[in-house]
Amino acid sequence: MADMRVLVTGGAGYIGAHTLVAMLAAGQRPLVLDNFSNGSAEAVRRVERLCSASIPLIEGDIRQPGVVQAVLAQAAAGGDPVRAVLHLAGCKAVGESVADPLKYYDNNVAGSLALLHAMRETGVARLVFSSSATVYGEPQSLPFTEAHPLAPANPYGRTKLMVEQMLRDLCAAQAGFGAVTLRYFNPIGAHPSGQIGESPRDVPNNLFPFITQVAVGRRPFLNVFGDDYATADGTGVRDYLHVMDLAQGHVQALDYALAHPGFVAVNLGTGQGTSVLELVQAFERVNQCRIPLRTQPRRPGDIERMWADPALAASLLGWRSRRGVDAMCADGWRWQQGNPRGYETDPPAA
Ligand code: NAD
Ligand code: UFG
Repeated sequence: MADMRVLVTGGAGYIGAHTLVAMLAAGQRPLVLDNFSNGSAEAVRRVERLCSASIPLIEGDIRQPGVVQAVLAQAAAGGDPVRAVLHLAGCKAVGESVADPLKYYDNNVAGSLALLHAMRETGVARLVFSSSATVYGEPQSLPFTEAHPLAPANPYGRTKLMVEQMLRDLCAAQAGFGAVTLRYFNPIGAHPSGQIGESPRDVPNNLFPFITQVAVGRRPFLNVFGDDYATADGTGVRDYLHVMDLAQGHVQALDYALAHPGFVAVNLGTGQGTSVLELVQAFERVNQCRIPLRTQPRRPGDIERMWADPALAASLLGWRSRRGVDAMCADGWRWQQGNPRGYETDPPAA
């Protein structure tokens, strides 16, 4: 619904910043709450410039008692009540979740619980939640449909599943509550302007930001984790989707949530699998560069191949991915080339 005020937790992060752009284009009015543990105020400032819009940005932690209540109550008192919450705030590194599970149960599970309490106290009854394809675990069949058994293989995935279960229970108990949980596959790339993008603080865990950091000269080569999988070229296969397509999915999920109480989980993916080597080759071709490779042993815990069945997103939300791997590579490279160190040290673009 155009014109609705939406609280976006974690809106200063990678997916958050891109989603703000899509929301503003659709006439939705975001209000961002972020503790900047992995996001940046600069990302939100750049979105404001890109969209010629003003975005209220509050620094705060969803777990801190009273913070979310105050934000929601203040908006209502000002005559501009929050209609829905888009809940992106959380930690997302699988390896770190294995090493420090309590950090993940605290931020992802206890943080979501605190948010839901605050929503109940202030009468906000619509939520869109960032879940992950990682809730499925090892595929028993492909593509993953939403009915696939849920068996996450690491603490990060279990925190996402626990929040999904909390939302399902809450929707069953409270007739007026509506929650859409979005199971993202592998979002990559950047806004085509090159003004916002992914800005990892440490060594990237994920494939695509690693590729762009090799391309820009920050790292000498890409490690290819395993070349002996039962896939066409031996490397792992994923469903990469353009972050702007993912962003648009949130706009449509918010519209759906507003009109429909109850719980639903929806995949956001393209339905297409791409291997590590195919992605590297597309990046080299599209951007006319070379990515030196080193084959390494398989990364522990990695799944061989997975991709989404995106049919439910199409039928329920009217959402389909529109951009292909070439656009993901071109847009991701434009961002990295113009901002070699991400938001960290680069002055804002003119
Ligand atoms: P990100 O780290 O860039 O963004 C998360 C944002 O949340 C950051 O700005 C961070 O500062 C903020 N944050 C974290 N804890 C907070 C707290 N307690 N209070 C307030 N703000 C807090 O990550 P992202 O890639 O944009 O991911 C967004 C969401 O999507 C996460 O929940 C993540 O688990 C989920 N997700 C991401 C991917 C992916 O590949 N990027 C895949 C599946 C699911
Ligand atoms: N890979 C490499 N080299 C790297 C990084 C990754 O070869 O430096 C390979 C992996 O082995 C895998 C593929 O590239 O085959 C994709 O790996 P990513 O780490 O980019 O993505 P994953 O599918 O492993 O995991 C990501 C997020 C999870 C999320 C999941 C599904 O990290 O949080 O997508 O959404 F749950």
